[in-house]
Amino acid sequence: MRTPLLAAPPGAGESVDPAAFRSAMAALAAPVTVVTCYDELGAPRGMTVSAACSLSLDPPLFLVCLDRRAGSHDALVTAPYFCVHVLGPGDEDLAMRFAGPAEHRFSGAPLLPEPAVAPALAAGLRLTCERYAVRDGGDHSILIGRVTGVDAADGARGGLVWHQRGFTS
Ligand SMILES: Cc1cc2nc3c(=O)[nH]c(=O)nc-3n(C[C@H](O)[C@H](O)[C@H](O)COP(=O)(O)O)c2cc1C
Repeated sequence: MRTPLLAAPPGAGESVDPAAFRSAMAALAAPVTVVTCYDELGAPRGMTVSAACSLSLDPPLFLVCLDRRAGSHDALVTAPYFCVHVLGPGDEDLAMRFAGPAEHRFSGAPLLPEPAVAPALAAGLRLTCERYAVRDGGDHSILIGRVTGVDAADGARGGLVWHQRGFTS
């Protein structure tokens, strides 16, 4: 005799209301970073990213999640190197600059003059990363980098936080 199938538990196979999901995600306190690279023509590219976190200690891996529709997406997921600047209190304008019109991002930004594998800003705690993997993340791509260097601008320690659609620290 066959065992009757159990009824699906509550919640199985259901879809969350997108507005409820967004609202719940706004409750997650997230770091604020600016991720930069050079595109295939050597032009600097960068955008503000709060979906960022450490992934592994051995090897040292860090991940950022990039909207596939972002203009910088393709450059960032194909660049051999990228830099993650973990911003701190006082860097709010820089975060908004790198979320605003692309043509204004690097003109006037505090770029370090020394040549580097990716554009380096004199702001925040800087992680230099070598592309390690790119994974599917729905409408985002998960870009994973192997961290090859850590530098801090003037003792910066990060600490700027994006929470409930605003900055805090
Ligand atoms: C505080 C903050 C956090 C953000 N976090 C992300 C993120 O994690 N991933 C992402 O794809 N976009 C994020 N964005 C949005 C991008 O920075 C924004 O869409 C930017 O204009 C993309 O630039 P692009 O289209 O020129 O590449 C964030 C914006 C702000 C202000």
